[in-house]
Amino acid sequence: MGKFNIAVVSGDGIGPEVTAQAERVLEKIGSIYDHTFEFCEVIAGGAAIDAVGECLPQETLDKCLSSDSVLLGAVGGPKWDNVPGDQRPERALLGLRKAMGLFANLRPAIIHPSLKDACPLKPHIIGDGLDILIVRELTGGIYFGERGRRMGELGEEAYDVECYSETEIRRIAVTAFDAAMKRSKHVTSIDKANVMESSRFWRSIVNEVAKDYPEVKLDYMFVDNASMQLIKDPHQFDVILTTNMFGDILSDEAGMITGSIGLLPSASLGSSTLGMYEPVHGSAPDIANQGKANPIAAILTAAMMLRYSFNLSTEAEAIETAVELALDEGCRTADIATEGEAVLSTAQMCDEILARLK
Ligand code: IPM
Ligand code: MG
Repeated sequence: MGKFNIAVVSGDGIGPEVTAQAERVLEKIGSIYDHTFEFCEVIAGGAAIDAVGECLPQETLDKCLSSDSVLLGAVGGPKWDNVPGDQRPERALLGLRKAMGLFANLRPAIIHPSLKDACPLKPHIIGDGLDILIVRELTGGIYFGERGRRMGELGEEAYDVECYSETEIRRIAVTAFDAAMKRSKHVTSIDKANVMESSRFWRSIVNEVAKDYPEVKLDYMFVDNASMQLIKDPHQFDVILTTNMFGDILSDEAGMITGSIGLLPSASLGSSTLGMYEPVHGSAPDIANQGKANPIAAILTAAMMLRYSFNLSTEAEAIETAVELALDEGCRTADIATEGEAVLSTAQMCDEILARLK
């Protein structure tokens, strides 16, 4: 029996539609397992630019920091394309990650057996499915390094610096190794150590952390090769450990391999239980407000919140099982339906999941 305060940044585009379904699922979990979830809606991203002229109002930040956990829909859209760089809706995400100290981004890339056909790779490559966990560093590296413009020898130039401290590398490596211990005990650390000094440093610290995990197999891969190996033989990966920038790129690639970005959740965690949970998909403005969006990523995101922030793994599994059952029994939103299959709306898909939630 717990009481949890959840700050909800439903955001832009399909964000509000999908977070509403995640809230319905949490409410049902609350009634089955006797927990209370209080939702506090706050604004960020494009919605906040429109309402108050800035993408991450202080009030939003304060409410997120004092909540037990944050549920986020999606931010951004073409409407704000011409907003100056430091005020774009995406800055709200970066600001929340940094201010909340969420240095670890967990992005599972899973192929549900009933959706194998959605995978764009050949069947013999994908076999029975796929289960990779990407552990992406989230508050350091080139995303947060020194940046600017200056006059150089060839005229004006711009720069963004990639810099990682030992502390930053160590803590994300520990996250990856801890996760590997609960899975297939294999970490692949991905970098560009053949070129970058920050990558060579990254490797040396990861190597040190590995000594505390003798059961975990560790190997290294250059990022260019890794992007190729992900397509050639994705089964060689269990946990991928990587930097902010490389993780951004590789997690989209892994997401595409699963064939359905509308199914992928993610968790951003720090050193306390306060986390931020968001679907991997974006705001999809082209299908916003039409009831077409797939709510499953948002719903699985809520399951990750239960598991990682509230330590409610039974409840998390109940949600995951209900989603699996709905998919196995043929429930499909437009993004995952094949020709001739009946298409459910966002809310109908959630109804089907709720009906299977025990
Ligand atoms: C992601 C997104 C963000 C990122 C953008 C929207 C700032 O691409 O969460 O992967 O680059 O981290
Ligand atoms: Mg990205």
